[in-house]
Amino acid sequence: MDVIRVKNADEGGKKAFEIIKDGIANGADTFGLATGSTPETMYSYMIESDMDFSDKVSVNLDEYVGLDGNNEQSYRYFMDQHLFNHKPFEKTYVPNGKAQDLDAECQRYDDIIAANPIDIQVLGIGQNGHIGFNEPGTSFEATTHVVELTESTVNANKRYFDKVEDVPTRALTMGIQSIMKSKKIILMAFGEAKAEAIKGMIDGKVTEDLPASVLQKHDDVVVIIDKDAASKL
Ligand code: GLP
Repeated sequence: MDVIRVKNADEGGKKAFEIIKDGIANGADTFGLATGSTPETMYSYMIESDMDFSDKVSVNLDEYVGLDGNNEQSYRYFMDQHLFNHKPFEKTYVPNGKAQDLDAECQRYDDIIAANPIDIQVLGIGQNGHIGFNEPGTSFEATTHVVELTESTVNANKRYFDKVEDVPTRALTMGIQSIMKSKKIILMAFGEAKAEAIKGMIDGKVTEDLPASVLQKHDDVVVIIDKDAASKL
């Protein structure tokens, strides 16, 4: 893993944006994108740039079960607000949290991923080491699946909702196997709450108990962390 230490989330977002820009200059056209507060600065740099993404494709990591794209807490809404409304892509994929048949939706999403191999995957990390919504204990072989969110994740994400009871307890997520197939991965983490997970991911053993540790087995991962996220290294 190539670890880049930055001052703060702004500098981290700028670095990630530069990697995306270099990737595009070298032919990347399909991007695995993530939600959460972590990639927001990177999206701001993308928006402020004069770059055109209208021939690019994005495949998002995950979506809450039960929320449709008009719901302000949905990840589709987040992506529209933070990126796509400002910088249109040729095609943007996010799992459909309102699908009637969730198994069929997982299959549909796997077919989308297979048809759109990801050049650069952007990741944040959960406090418990999850990537996408692949919670601890998820098989490294998993493809798109429905997850029961852990209490820790529900608590960490409740800040976006009026009350904790409103946080969906299930989500659809791209699996670890698919994440690992991306050609290049950028993982960003900012803040002390991520320090433990970052230590385990970089220095710990590769274990399904800490999903992000699987990235040690990928040969092109850039980790961008601030001082607080790096504080336990
Ligand atoms: C959610 C998302 C992840 C994200 C994580 C961290 O659970 N499913 O993709 O990486 O939260 O979020 P944040 O960046 O807000 O800390």
